[in-house]
Amino acid sequence: MNEPLSIIILAAGKGSRMKSQTAKVLHDISGRPMLYHIVKSALALTDDVTVVVSHQKEAVTAAIREHFESVTFVTQDTERFPGTGGALKNVAPRYDNVLVLNGDMPLVTPESLQGFLQGGADITMSIFDLEDPSGYGRVVISDVGVERIVEEKDANAAELTIRHVNAGVYAFRKSVLERYLPRLSNANAQGEYYLTDVIALARADGLSVEPLLVDEEHFKGVNSKADLAAAEVIMQRRIREKWMLAGVGMQLPETIYIDEAVTFEGECRLENGVRITGESRLVNSHVKAYSVVEESVLIDSDVGPMAHIRPASRIEGTHIGNFVEVKKSTLRGVKAGHLSYLGDATIDEGTNIGAGVITCNYDGRKKYETRIGKNVFLGSDTQVIAPCTIEDDVIVAAGTTVTSRHVESGVLLLSRAKIRKVEHFFYSFFGKERP
Ligand code: UD1
Ligand code: CA
Repeated sequence: MNEPLSIIILAAGKGSRMKSQTAKVLHDISGRPMLYHIVKSALALTDDVTVVVSHQKEAVTAAIREHFESVTFVTQDTERFPGTGGALKNVAPRYDNVLVLNGDMPLVTPESLQGFLQGGADITMSIFDLEDPSGYGRVVISDVGVERIVEEKDANAAELTIRHVNAGVYAFRKSVLERYLPRLSNANAQGEYYLTDVIALARADGLSVEPLLVDEEHFKGVNSKADLAAAEVIMQRRIREKWMLAGVGMQLPETIYIDEAVTFEGECRLENGVRITGESRLVNSHVKAYSVVEESVLIDSDVGPMAHIRPASRIEGTHIGNFVEVKKSTLRGVKAGHLSYLGDATIDEGTNIGAGVITCNYDGRKKYETRIGKNVFLGSDTQVIAPCTIEDDVIVAAGTTVTSRHVESGVLLLSRAKIRKVEHFFYSFFGKERP
C-alpha cells in the first residue's frame, strides 16, 4: 500500500514554442486537451490533485472542470515568480509525499508513475537518455549520483553533450519543497525560478536524490507542434491497441484515427483510413475505408467507403454506402447506398434512399427538419424541401422535388417536366448528314 500522495501539475506557462493563440496545455491530443490526459492519470492515483494555472487560466480551468470536479486550481503570479519553481509558491499539498508533473507530458499513465510512489529518497526524479537531448534540461551525474539539473539555455558546451535529461516528474517530501522553494534564485538565462534548482540545493545539504529511468513513450514533453504530432502517434497506437484487444478488428491500424472518447461494443470492424471522433459509440458495426464518423452512434450498421457521418447522428440497423453525408439525423433500418445528403432528418425502417437524394434543410437563414416514415421509396435524385413529413408507405419517383409539407401514406409523388422529343435535332445542330 502506497502512502497518500498529492499531485501538482504545472500548467501556467505560455508555451510560446507552440506559436499559437491557444495555451499549450489546451492543445488537443486524440480529441482532448493535453492537460486532460495528465489530470486523468493523476486522479487515478490520488484525490489531491492541484493544477497551477496563469496564462489563459479561465479557459484552462473550464476545460478541466468540464470533465473533473475534484481538482484544485491555484494561480501562479507569473509576473513576480515566473518559472516552474515560482509555480509551486502558493500550492498547499495535503499530504507529505508530493509528485510534481509538468503539464505538457500527456503520455503519462498511472502505471508509469508507480515508480515515483515507492522511493525512499528525499527526492526522486525522472531521467531519460536521448540520442538528441535538445530542448530538455540536462542532468549532471557524478560518481555519487545526481548533482544538479542544468537548463539547456544555461548549459555550457560540455553540459550540452549530456544525454541524460530531466523528464519533468519529481517526487518530493513536502518538507523538502518547503525548505528549498524560498531559496530558489532567478539568476539564470531565463530570469525564472527553476524548480530543477531544488536538486542542487538539496544535494548541497546532503539530501538523497534518486534518479528513476523512464521512457519517452510515457514522459515525452510537448513544446512544439512537431512534439504534439509525435505524442499523438504514441497516443493513437495505445488507443488502437486497447480496442483491438477488446475485439475491434482493424485493417492497417496505423492508418486509423480514433479519439480517446470513442467507445466500441460487441464486434466492430474498421477498414483502413477510418477516422472516428468525439464521444462516438459504435456497436456491432462496420466502418469501411476512408469514412469519417463524428460524435455519433452506430448500432448494427455498415457505413462507407468514403461516407461522412457528422455529429449528433444515430444510425441503427442501417446501410450507408459511398459518398453519403449524414448530419444530426436518426436513421433506423434504412438503406442509403449512394451519394446523398441527409441532414436534420428522421428516417424509419424499410425506407430506401435512392442515389443522389438530398434533404434541403437550409433556406439560407434557418435549418428545418425532414421526417420520413417506414417503407418509403425515395427515387434517385429526389430533393425533399424541409420542413417536410412523409408518412409510411410512400413512393417518390426519381427526380422529384418534394415541395409539400406533408405527404400522406400510400401515395406516389412525381414531379417531372414533360419530356420533349425533337426529331433529328442532333444532325441539324452539328450540321451532319443523317445516317
Ligand atoms: C522543463 C524543465 C526541464 C525538463 C523539461 C521536461 C524546468 C526549469 N525545466 O523544461 O529541465 O527537461 O521540463 O519536459 O523546470 N510552467 C508553469 N509556470 C511557469 C513556467 C512553466 O506552470 O512559470 C509549466 C508549463 O505550463 C509546463 C511546465 O511547467 O507545463 C514545464 O514548462 P516548460 O516551459 O515547458 O519547461 P521546459 O523548458 O520544457
Ligand atoms: Ca516542456
